Amino acid sequence: PETGCLSIIVLGASGDLAKKKTFPALYNLYRQGFLQSNEVHIFGYARTELSDDELRDRIRGYLPQGKEVKDDVLDFLQLIKYVSGSYDAPEGFQALDKAISEHEVSTNSAEESSRRLFYLALPPSVYPQVCKMIKSNCTNKTELGGWTRIVVEKPFGRDLASAEELSSQIGELFEEPQIFRIDHYLGKELVQNLLVLRFANRLFFPLWNRDNIANVQIVFREDFGTEGRGGYFDQYGIIRDIIQNHLLQVLCLVAMEKPVSLTPEHIRDEKVKVLQSVVPIKDEEVVLGQYEGYKDDPTVPNCSNTPTFATVILRIHNERWEGVPFILKAGKALSSRKADIRVQFKDVPGDIFKCQKQGRNEFVIRLQPLEAMYMKLTVKQPGLEMSTVQSELDLSYRERYHKTVIPEAYERLILDTIKGDQQHFVRRDELKAAWEIFTPLLHRIDEGEFKSLPYKPGSRGPAEADQLLERAGYVQTHGY
Ligand code: BG6
Repeated sequence: PETGCLSIIVLGASGDLAKKKTFPALYNLYRQGFLQSNEVHIFGYARTELSDDELRDRIRGYLPQGKEVKDDVLDFLQLIKYVSGSYDAPEGFQALDKAISEHEVSTNSAEESSRRLFYLALPPSVYPQVCKMIKSNCTNKTELGGWTRIVVEKPFGRDLASAEELSSQIGELFEEPQIFRIDHYLGKELVQNLLVLRFANRLFFPLWNRDNIANVQIVFREDFGTEGRGGYFDQYGIIRDIIQNHLLQVLCLVAMEKPVSLTPEHIRDEKVKVLQSVVPIKDEEVVLGQYEGYKDDPTVPNCSNTPTFATVILRIHNERWEGVPFILKAGKALSSRKADIRVQFKDVPGDIFKCQKQGRNEFVIRLQPLEAMYMKLTVKQPGLEMSTVQSELDLSYRERYHKTVIPEAYERLILDTIKGDQQHFVRRDELKAAWEIFTPLLHRIDEGEFKSLPYKPGSRGPAEADQLLERAGYVQTHGY
């Protein structure tokens, strides 16, 4: 591992993302010894005038509260300093640079290098100007190596054109290996497990294709609405918020060919190929919904048609997947909170047990909550009779790995940014290919050509989505 002075600068330090995700993830890394107090300083930057202690107080409420961690939390908070300034004028950034440099001088020995990680917990509209300010005022000037890296969060644009514009603006200032586009689904344990599952198990090689797989579902459900984020959400909708990024990234890992190696470029090369093989989405393979009560939020306009639910079928035009529907489904205010991948196999040809009504083989990977994977199988009903029943081979992480704490997605991803490993980050061409898939549909939704069907909060979403699933050949199975 690299050593030397590390400065982590969280821009937008008093915002929601920073408080709820970034600082708690940094705390967990600190607690596990990944951030050494003699090397690391954390800087919060935002417009509000605050003292160091005032920022620390704001963060503290989002960190673990128990007595046993109190000292750790206090030590961690002492690593944080605050600098205030605007996002478009050099003065604040010059003050920030001065604070970082002082830290570097106090920490560095001659042979060491300095590392500067800028985490933009900010709305994307300010990315270009903030990147410009960082580049001209705060980049690492040490002659001894070291680096400057930028971490950005979605939404990266609203459509293909705006995303490309954003990419070019940032790309003029920083090289691609310096830019880390976070999609936090890539940091989830069972998403990271997909490559291992698929390419380290002989079992799946011959099965993972159109000859054996009938359909694949990638599903995200939340049992709460937009809660206080209505204003933001209404400008984006569920496709831009969840499907175009989180679910599409999962699809890539399910569908891609085996990469040449595990190097980030090899993996991302294969993901891009999958995205480029997706054919235009058909109108009849889209169902949109909006939960009743969504417009009660005063920040949402009364005439809003923004979908809070969508089912969209993607089709991959290649040798492995031709004819296999990939059903992406996401919704807010549904009956449960769950994200899973369901790979449904075809019926057994020449079935002598007449058991197909009990369901098909289905391999389910539950990303959250309670990480698990299980394979639905038909087995003999135990007992004297020769009848069949649907059962599961079940790997529940809580039971099997009960001694292991499964890290939060943000924790892993921030650690990767410090290590400089881009395997779990979205490359520019990948982002472009992802927007190419959804932009035509999104534009038509924006122009009012699709209606979001109403559904009851706490339900499964519009019934039309289940009908679409049936048309796509999904067979409801029993069991879980
Ligand atoms: C975010 C979306 O990217 O992911 C939110 O903007 C959503 O709308 C969240 O609630 C879900 O993340 P997780 O990790 O809780 O599934």
